[in-house]
Amino acid sequence: MSLLLNRSVFGDSANKGKVLSRAEAESLFNEWVLNPRLQLHMKQVAHLMKCWATEKENLDEAGQWQWEITGLLHDADWDQWPDQHCKKIIEELELRNVDPEIIHAIASHGPNHFGVEPETQLDKMLFAFDELSGLIHAYSLMRPGGYEGMELKGVKKRLKDKSFAANVSREEINDACNRATISLEDLIQFIIAKQGSVV
Ligand SMILES: [Fe+2]
Ligand SMILES: [Fe+2]
Repeated sequence: MSLLLNRSVFGDSANKGKVLSRAEAESLFNEWVLNPRLQLHMKQVAHLMKCWATEKENLDEAGQWQWEITGLLHDADWDQWPDQHCKKIIEELELRNVDPEIIHAIASHGPNHFGVEPETQLDKMLFAFDELSGLIHAYSLMRPGGYEGMELKGVKKRLKDKSFAANVSREEINDACNRATISLEDLIQFIIAKQGSVV
């Protein structure tokens, strides 16, 4: 089964800056995503994106919401329509006249699967957070204290252990860090510091 999107333009440039309200985004989220584990993953990525936009990109409130909603909706169709991931959510957001930057970021969150390269920093950070967030969460679940006291070296050890969270591609994580020009260590530290507060 191929998830290749076979397109390179997403959304309409006339819609730049247009976003769903928080209530609209949450109602789409609740309607489409029924699996609690996937819900948590999407909320975690949304939180990481928001924190990054605020602390590293110094964006204003509108910019922070643009980053947060991108994380919040990036896997919206994965639960009920995995064979249409992420085509279905892209088409839905296009119908709703959403900012093309948000749609492009969602379309490029798996360049090896969807065939769309991350271009902007928004695109690149979504790609970078996506898989590493899941691996770090899996690690937290096997630690008695969860995120409490988690250290960089513990995460690096799990990354080296190919049997741990074996479906998480180490190559993609390294590739994502290179594209975003951030070190793997900094990315891990950022996720450890922020992700534990999302429940
Ligand atoms: Fe995905
Ligand atoms: Fe994801």
